[in-house]
Amino acid sequence: MEDRVVTGEETLEDASVELSLRPARLDQYIGQDKVKQNLHIFIQAAKMRNEPLDHVLLYGPPGLGKTTLAAIIANEMGVQFRSTSGPAIERAGDLAAILSSLEPGDILFIDEIHRLPHSVEEVLYPAMEDFFLDIVIGTGPSARSVRIDLPPFTLVGATTRAGLLSAPLRDRFGVLSRLEFYETKDLCAIIERTAEIFDMTITKEAAAEVAGRSRGTPRIANRLFKRIRDISQVRGESEIRLATTELALQMLQVDSAGLDHIDHKLLKGMIEGFKGGPVGLDTISATIGEEPQTIEDVYEPYLLQIGFIQRTPRGRVVTHKAYTHFGMKGYDSE
Ligand code: ADE
Repeated sequence: MEDRVVTGEETLEDASVELSLRPARLDQYIGQDKVKQNLHIFIQAAKMRNEPLDHVLLYGPPGLGKTTLAAIIANEMGVQFRSTSGPAIERAGDLAAILSSLEPGDILFIDEIHRLPHSVEEVLYPAMEDFFLDIVIGTGPSARSVRIDLPPFTLVGATTRAGLLSAPLRDRFGVLSRLEFYETKDLCAIIERTAEIFDMTITKEAAAEVAGRSRGTPRIANRLFKRIRDISQVRGESEIRLATTELALQMLQVDSAGLDHIDHKLLKGMIEGFKGGPVGLDTISATIGEEPQTIEDVYEPYLLQIGFIQRTPRGRVVTHKAYTHFGMKGYDSE
């Protein structure tokens, strides 16, 4: 996949920056009000009963704060936060090692949980349901199964789409929370908070401009903020202002809707090659040279959200709104 400043996917640089920006408590977490309200109640109830929290599945596009929320849950519950990912757990034994090292009540966070191998997933079911593992050791006639009792724990799983999970795994989560793209006002608040942590000031207009081009995604807002801060500092400005912000965003090739060259390639490919569609996902994939899964999980959600493309039974269609954005007249008479 190409490098881009406006992808919600995590880069190595984001990982360390986000650690320093991560809010510790639920009341410091901006936006996602419905998810927060629900979690607040479930956490309170679990604490009152002195029980671990039910298993939680967080789903939604990358960069919206699933890991942050999982760490907050651990903090609010007053337990340890252990973090891994679906692709990192290759064998049942890997999972057994992690689970048997947990303290009662701990949170185990599994990012990209839809990418757990099947063999591991099956071992996870009884662990989630009844806190034990059935592990087969040895092979052939000497193979036998051993039962390992586990401390009660809470699994927090994260995935870009709940639909990618197998039904048996999805059914074992007591709490399913969908994170939505952030409203501009929430992104403004996040950018102002980030500026404060970095000991900078940013004008309201500049924060609003960054927010408007961040695709509803805090990770993108924070990443754009950092690049704009660099340019402000080089220009010797102590406060981040609108003019510098606009210049920086132009240099970063992020347009007024937060779209970059890859979005342009995707939309223009559909417009120029297929009169705006309908075009099937696989055809789009072949045309622009990106994986269908990446298009579906990373590029498309925001274009759907802002109404630049629509999904129809016959494929994706570029909308009139997108044509207007490019200063073009649509092919159809929408
Ligand atoms: N940083 C990234 N996402 C955030 C959020 N939702 N609230 C506060 N800070 C954040």
